[in-house]
Amino acid sequence: MSDAAITVDGVSKRFRIYHERNQSLKAAVMRRRRSVHEDFWALRDVGFEIPQQSTFALIGDNGSGKSTLLKCIAKILTPDAGTITRRGRMAALLEVGSGFHPELSGRDNVYLNGSILGMTKQEIDSKFDSIVGFSGVEQFIDQPVKNYSSGMYVRLGFSVAIHVDPEILLVDEVLAVGDAAFQEKCAEKFSEFRREGRTVVVVSHSVPTLRTMCDQVAWLSHGELVETGEANAVLERYQDASRTDVRTDERGRVHWGSGEAVVDDVELVSDGRRVDTVRTGEELTIRIHYTARQRIERPVFGLAMESHDGVYLWANNTKDLHFEVDQIEGTGVVECRIPRLMLQPGSFHVMASVVDQSTLHVFDYLREGARLGVVTGVPVESGGYLALDGRWSR
Ligand SMILES: Nc1ncnc2c1ncn2[C@@H]1O[C@H](COP(=O)(O)OP(=O)(O)O)[C@@H](O)[C@H]1O
Ligand SMILES: [Mg+2]
Repeated sequence: MSDAAITVDGVSKRFRIYHERNQSLKAAVMRRRRSVHEDFWALRDVGFEIPQQSTFALIGDNGSGKSTLLKCIAKILTPDAGTITRRGRMAALLEVGSGFHPELSGRDNVYLNGSILGMTKQEIDSKFDSIVGFSGVEQFIDQPVKNYSSGMYVRLGFSVAIHVDPEILLVDEVLAVGDAAFQEKCAEKFSEFRREGRTVVVVSHSVPTLRTMCDQVAWLSHGELVETGEANAVLERYQDASRTDVRTDERGRVHWGSGEAVVDDVELVSDGRRVDTVRTGEELTIRIHYTARQRIERPVFGLAMESHDGVYLWANNTKDLHFEVDQIEGTGVVECRIPRLMLQPGSFHVMASVVDQSTLHVFDYLREGARLGVVTGVPVESGGYLALDGRWSR
């Protein structure tokens, strides 16, 4: 008898895909009960054990079956073959904002979501401050969550889930939506969970996030288990194998993503001219030139900035800023205008991405989008990255 927290044994999961093209009433009647479908095996004979007190990751490319497996573990889906044995009370955080009601305030959603996850009102009352404290959205707790950014959604949802006091916590990709500081907080929480004898199962396709938080990894590819074992070793081999998502463009820049839409160029514009250097305090417009090889509905464009020495300074995307791009096809431009660039002199990297509405699927990510030089302007301050225009008095 194994004492693993979760035992996955010979699990297969099939989805039926129905072909309903050219569906008319007449065709439907003529076809009567003969349904036209194809079987698609999202998981095939997957087996491994998740040890108690471990932080365990499921990794694999988009569509490899990670979420399907996590849903089977969470009992949201039933496998078509095989068994899953769980030892301990579970809580799951499977999608951004699942269990949240957009019109309700953050406060009401904590109660709603908490009760969906099995907490009583008294339990939520007593944990409320701690939930909100961990999430870091105190200031917005009485606003409807439809005004929240995806990062805020995730922080609040994650905070509720960890306060359910689960022995087994299941978390799908969502953490990737949070910023670096929040991911660090989650990693800390996971090691606290581990010390308390709890088990965490996380899903991700982001290797850097997992490297810092996991003990063991199971790697899925096209619904099959490639290998399972010690995190760093498996992640290393996964990364080597998954270079197919990575390509180098004609200018030698590295892109990452599935490629249905790509960032062709990132252009820095100030005062109507293309520039590579601006002064502190000047206006800067960052233009993303893209090509969508097919029609894509509701894409999300993002920008981020790092200092030359790798400090993550800024990120901004069209979804969080409520700039809805209804669809793209062919080439086009989107731009983000920064009225005053509050950076001290230095050298910075601008990254650009185009992702899907959930922000989990990356069409293209260009790390070396542009290099931005900042030279002395106004205000002049003494050091660091930011120009906050501090004023002294006494
Ligand atoms: N409800 C569903 N009906 C049909 N196909 C599905 C369904 N859910 C997932 N799939 C398919 O199963 C495969 C695995 O999906 P998923 O588990 O979401 O992958 P991952 O989380 O690794 O990206 C994908 O090809 C996906 O399109
Ligand atoms: Mg998934």
